[in-house]
Amino acid sequence: MPTTTFSIALIPGDGIGCEVTLPAFAIAQKTAANSGFELSATSYDWGSDYYFKNGRMMPSDAIETLRKHDAILLGAVGHTQIPDHVTLNGLLLPIRRRFDQFANVRPAVLYRGVPSPLKALSAGDVDMVVVRENTEGEYAQVGGFVHQDHDAEVAIQTAVFTRHGVERIIRYAFELARARNKKRKVASITKSNAQGFSMVLWDRVFQRVAGEYPDIETESLLVDAAAMNFVRRPQTFDVVVASNLFGDILSDISAIVTGSIGLAASANIDPTRRFPSMFEPVHGSAPDIAGKGIANPLAAVVSASMMLDHLGVSQAARKIDAAIENLLAGEKIRTPDLGGTSSTAQVVEALLKF
Ligand code: NAD
Ligand code: IPM
Ligand code: MN
Repeated sequence: MPTTTFSIALIPGDGIGCEVTLPAFAIAQKTAANSGFELSATSYDWGSDYYFKNGRMMPSDAIETLRKHDAILLGAVGHTQIPDHVTLNGLLLPIRRRFDQFANVRPAVLYRGVPSPLKALSAGDVDMVVVRENTEGEYAQVGGFVHQDHDAEVAIQTAVFTRHGVERIIRYAFELARARNKKRKVASITKSNAQGFSMVLWDRVFQRVAGEYPDIETESLLVDAAAMNFVRRPQTFDVVVASNLFGDILSDISAIVTGSIGLAASANIDPTRRFPSMFEPVHGSAPDIAGKGIANPLAAVVSASMMLDHLGVSQAARKIDAAIENLLAGEKIRTPDLGGTSSTAQVVEALLKF
């Protein structure tokens, strides 16, 4: 029987993105070889260095180039010498939108061997996933400047919430709560007390869709209270569904509650599979530690594991998860963000031995 080969586009990007993406892919590739399939990589040098040379973050046919791959593994984008809205609107955000990766899935798990800054929590207490709408909402990029560069300058940035977009992400969250089969609970996050149109539409759709899932418990929270409750009672959450911006912010909170953003993975999924999905850590290019060789590679490695799940090779994904769990439980080899002294390379080397 011919071996299945998946074609993966690698975009290491900037800063620590370059330090964690290739090792994460190497771990996935080795696991693939031990599991009877292959991962082939094409690496793209897009990002800020590409921008300095070419005046753009990626070539004009980048989307067509990426389309032929089975999945994309991305590091991070962001450079101190280029405005963030240029780097991100030039690479990451157009990929999410053009490939209709409407479900941004961001798990947060408190592993054995990892201390939470919330001292009352122990391993297993937090096992939640933020499902973030990923193609519209506050990130729709609708708006503009009026009277630009004059004293009377006005900027308009309009959030766009479509019933279609809201419904499909809420439905995705309910299906995920069923598939996870843990607490079987979905919390919906809005700000409908202040934003009386978009968030009211969201609340209405949530209530209607919830009616189709009587086996799933629901909770509706305003985003400010949700931020507090992510810290006060993170162990009560299972699946949390939120708009693009709220999901962005809340997934940094769920990351730190489970020890470090260096462990937080994410999947940008097109559940219809018309387009390749993209897997990346929640964190950015971390200029403060870039080049020091101490970035935690585990967020990228878990992202690679989520990629294997999406490609239907879940047994291989579980092998990677088990290696990470064993490594962390050992409490010896860990990067400084987790209180250790190991380098990125030492963590990767230890993982490759499992
Ligand atoms: P960041 O996530 O890069 O860093 C925040 C803090 O967390 C820093 O102190 C950093 O050292 C630490 N950190 C992050 N990842 C870590 C890891 N793997 N190991 C150890 N420590 C880690 O967020 P920021 O500083 O707000 O943004 C830096 C740049 O990255 C900006 O240009 C921003 O726009 C960009 N960014 C890109 C993405 C992306 O491409 N997906 C995501 C977030 C931020
Ligand atoms: C993330 C990042 C991006 C986002 C930025 C860099 C545009 O913060 O993936 O969480 O807000 O989506
Ligand atoms: Mn973010």
